[in-house]
Amino acid sequence: EHGLSSVAWPWSHEGMTESYDHAAIRRGFQVYQQVCAACHSMEYIHYRDLVGVCYTEEEAKAMAAEVEVVDGPNDEGEMFERPGRLSDPLPRPYDNEQAARYANGGAYPPDLSLMTNARPNGQNYLFSLLLGYKEPPAGVSVREGLYYNPYFPGGAIAMPRMLADGGVEYDDGTPSNSSQQAKDVTTFLAWAASPEQDERKLMGIKAMTLIAIMWTYAIYQKRLRWSTLK
Ligand code: HEM
Repeated sequence: EHGLSSVAWPWSHEGMTESYDHAAIRRGFQVYQQVCAACHSMEYIHYRDLVGVCYTEEEAKAMAAEVEVVDGPNDEGEMFERPGRLSDPLPRPYDNEQAARYANGGAYPPDLSLMTNARPNGQNYLFSLLLGYKEPPAGVSVREGLYYNPYFPGGAIAMPRMLADGGVEYDDGTPSNSSQQAKDVTTFLAWAASPEQDERKLMGIKAMTLIAIMWTYAIYQKRLRWSTLK
């Protein structure tokens, strides 16, 4: 039986009060940029979204400015190139789906912005998938251009194993073995799909605190008022 993952990896951002590991988000962005961005877009993430999450405004501006963005038309009706800005989305590797399929033997590398919500048990599936490449078991043959991966529905995926030990350079000096990269890029993609998580949990804590105080007060008042009637 092939497909998906029921394993629950111990993510540090799981649980009612746990926030994302923002250093991991930053490293995960570096994995995305250095590896995944060659084939996958993230059209819902803009450079400004990274500010205050894993980069400073200056850092994000500088990264955006390294990208040539096609803009226009200008007053003469022409398109032109300009350096990227905070308001630009992360650059996409292909102009459209046809170009993407052409470059990938007919398969389409999906946009990764919401990937951890796209499959059940998304982040655990993603982590398992990225590291789950194996030799096909005896009797199983995989078509040319596909790779055996027991976590992928159907067991044969058009994306080869992408993570290699040392294949990413982290700016915080963390050794980049492939499981570190998988953990970090999954954390980054989980944040991208649910960027409001930290705030939502903080609101939850505040709401529970307020309800506890109000509840205590209500019980106190109830006992006080009713004590004379008994
Ligand atoms: C599919 C993640 C790098 C090519 C996928 C899927 C995910 C993913 C989550 C969808 C799996 C599904 O449908 O359940 C990543 C990540 C990468 C990465 C996190 C970086 C670490 C790359 C690169 C290429 C690539 C560099 C191209 C050389 C593809 C293709 C598919 C795909 C062609 C479609 C597979 C199919 O439908 O059989 N990737 N990917 N990916 N990826 Fe990647």
